[in-house]
Amino acid sequence: MSRVDKAGSFLLGDRKINRMGYGAMQLAGPHVFGPPKDPVAALAVLREALAAGVNHIDTADFYGPHVTNRLIREALHPYASDLVIVTKVGAVRGADASWNPALSPAELTQAVHDNLRNLGVDALDVVNLRAWGNMQAPTEGSIEESFSTLAELQHQGLIRHLGLSNVTAAQVKQAQGIANVVCVQNHYNLTHRGDESLIADLGRQGIAYVPFFPLGGFTPLQSQALSTVAARLEASPLCVALAWLLQRAPNLLLIPGTSSVAHLRENLAASELRIPAPMLAELDALA
Ligand SMILES: NC(=O)c1ccc[n+]([C@@H]2O[C@H](COP(=O)([O-])OP(=O)(O)OC[C@H]3O[C@@H](n4cnc5c(N)ncnc54)[C@H](OP(=O)(O)O)[C@@H]3O)[C@@H](O)[C@H]2O)c1
Repeated sequence: MSRVDKAGSFLLGDRKINRMGYGAMQLAGPHVFGPPKDPVAALAVLREALAAGVNHIDTADFYGPHVTNRLIREALHPYASDLVIVTKVGAVRGADASWNPALSPAELTQAVHDNLRNLGVDALDVVNLRAWGNMQAPTEGSIEESFSTLAELQHQGLIRHLGLSNVTAAQVKQAQGIANVVCVQNHYNLTHRGDESLIADLGRQGIAYVPFFPLGGFTPLQSQALSTVAARLEASPLCVALAWLLQRAPNLLLIPGTSSVAHLRENLAASELRIPAPMLAELDALA
């Protein structure tokens, strides 16, 4: 089994977590809607992740909806004291599996209570406000009302730490004027690198950057150069893509998603993979 702790740790608020985590989105049914094809396998992925040392799971109550949170609860409750579950609010699903914004104070409050109930906890470890906008790049616009709503729920004791997702640098600054921000979750990977300066800026402030789609998302990354480097390292290309992220910046935390135990093991192996400088340079050139 891989030594997840070899990838190092990071302080998320007051919680020390391993930099190699797990993203639960792929556990829901096709199009992140409805139950998984194989619920037993989904539970096995979660239990295997924890057995390997993962103590950071990313989720949302709108995955399914409610599906991934209920699987997490079924597989892992009562939770280990070192486990940090990060959820996000700001969207709801239509009956046709569509993704719709849900950023009003009433919708955000409802979402926090849905997460509390479905995860079976009295307070959520971390809640990310997911700003609306497309997946390729965040859209500018005020998040004052929505982030203030979450700050109020934090004051009520329902949320321990706050984060942001799909946001611009200006939105991070705006949120920091309202409450402390412990993490930012945006689209970033080997070939999608719009956030270089944001990652460095957050790093200087001790804030985690957690890339979503670290493997390329629904269509995982494919590149001849990546495959060539992977062959030389005798590792899988996606394992190399994760190891590249780990070496990119110390404040970068990983939440690769998978519905398969075999893929999970392959991904966690990135914790122990060290890419030598010349090969890193070849991968850097892929952007
Ligand atoms: N904030 C946001 O807006 C946002 C958006 C998207 C995702 N997220 C979060 O980020 C996490 C990661 O993103 P993601 O799961 O969408 O994308 P990802 O981690 O980039 O890639 C997941 C895809 O890669 C496949 N995969 C994983 N490991 C593999 C392996 N070793 N070999 C071959 N294929 C492999 C998975 O299929 P299999 O299931 O077959 O392995 C799945 O299709 C999510 O779980 C979610 O928690 C957040």
